[in-house]
Amino acid sequence: MHTVFDLGAYAVHVGDLSFGFPAWLRERDCSQVFVVADENTARHCLPLFLEKTAPLTPHPSPLTPHPSPLTPHSSLLTPGERHKTLATCERLWQQMLDARLDRRALVINLGGGVVGDLGGFCAATWKRGVDFVQVPTTLLAMTDAAIGGKLGVDFQGVKNAVGVFQNPAAVFVDPHFLQTLPERELRSGLAEVIKHALIGDPDLLALIESSQNLVQREAMLPAFWHHVLCASIAVKARVVMEDPREQGLRMLLNYGHTVGHAVESYFLKTPFPLAHGEAVALGMICESWLARTVVPNGHNRLARVIGAVSGTFLHQPVPEAAFAEIWAMMQQDKKNAAAAVRAAVPGGEPFEMQVLELTEGAVTDCLRFYNDLG
Ligand SMILES: NC(=O)c1ccc[n+]([C@@H]2O[C@H](COP(=O)([O-])OP(=O)(O)OC[C@H]3O[C@@H](n4cnc5c(N)ncnc54)[C@H](O)[C@@H]3O)[C@@H](O)[C@H]2O)c1
Ligand SMILES: [Zn+2]
Repeated sequence: MHTVFDLGAYAVHVGDLSFGFPAWLRERDCSQVFVVADENTARHCLPLFLEKTAPLTPHPSPLTPHPSPLTPHSSLLTPGERHKTLATCERLWQQMLDARLDRRALVINLGGGVVGDLGGFCAATWKRGVDFVQVPTTLLAMTDAAIGGKLGVDFQGVKNAVGVFQNPAAVFVDPHFLQTLPERELRSGLAEVIKHALIGDPDLLALIESSQNLVQREAMLPAFWHHVLCASIAVKARVVMEDPREQGLRMLLNYGHTVGHAVESYFLKTPFPLAHGEAVALGMICESWLARTVVPNGHNRLARVIGAVSGTFLHQPVPEAAFAEIWAMMQQDKKNAAAAVRAAVPGGEPFEMQVLELTEGAVTDCLRFYNDLG
């Protein structure tokens, strides 16, 4: 099974890495390969990556008519959102400098969304930009973060405050990497799959609703994941191709994130940080509640979102004392035109978007609605 999504500037390959990647690399004229991983992906994914891609041999060029296999340099990041910062970028740029990475180097980001966003940002800015490949290893990164060319880091506690748009040279999604992913992370990724289903694929939503225990290991047959990943990636690919720079429809991918990002930022400072997808799941419930009287069949939509989310995520109450801070975070949100806080939610038909303007009172009410579900 090998499916290729052509996004114009680059392709997303879904399937065993050993089919797609070595052949792709042989067509390229690159001088060095630099793998960015975190401690977990270095342990669980790097050996498999090297086994599936060996020997890494680039395309012959006039400068190197008989290229020898590349020995990858690698960088090891401390895992976690807390480390998605400029300080980590500085360490990575230092390692790039130490490895004498030139303009013809290829950076391979082997990891979840943190490695992809940060490693991509460092590659896109290194010597004004070197090529990079996303090899996502979490469900969240496979279905969402690795696709669409948004890169960056958090700054002063504000998620993704510093970043750029830059497309990868390619994306390779190999579901084998999911085998070592902790269950909590697998669930986290499902939030984005549910989001894509709600945005544009009613059949995928029905599949999720009818699948009990979607994240149980025995349900994780490669063919099943291949199907779910392709359906989910197809939604993301269609949206980013239509609106690469987030001038319109791409805002819809932020469904659940206006409230979700702010709640995620709040919990990041507590001893109990939420996984990104857990915050997005909570955010989708809150925003669907806010939209219930605005979008066609809004009450039915809200019930389906609660059903899909509560089958996968534990309820996570948000302290009332945090509401003001969460509202302040939302005012930082990049989607806001002038002073208004806006949230994009799916409309009545697939790929339809409705934009809501939020007030502090409405946000308080939706968080209370969410808390009362517990
Ligand atoms: N660029 C975008 O368009 C976009 C879209 C969505 C999310 N994001 C970003 O993605 C990030 C979240 O990504 P994430 O959920 O992948 O988090 P993550 O990168 O922190 O990975 C989660 C954890 O799983 C570990 N891990 C990764 N792959 C593993 C594997 N195969 N086996 C065992 N452990 C593994 C990691 O080391 C980490 O501890 C957030 O920073 C979010 O802002 C970006
Ligand atoms: Zn997300």
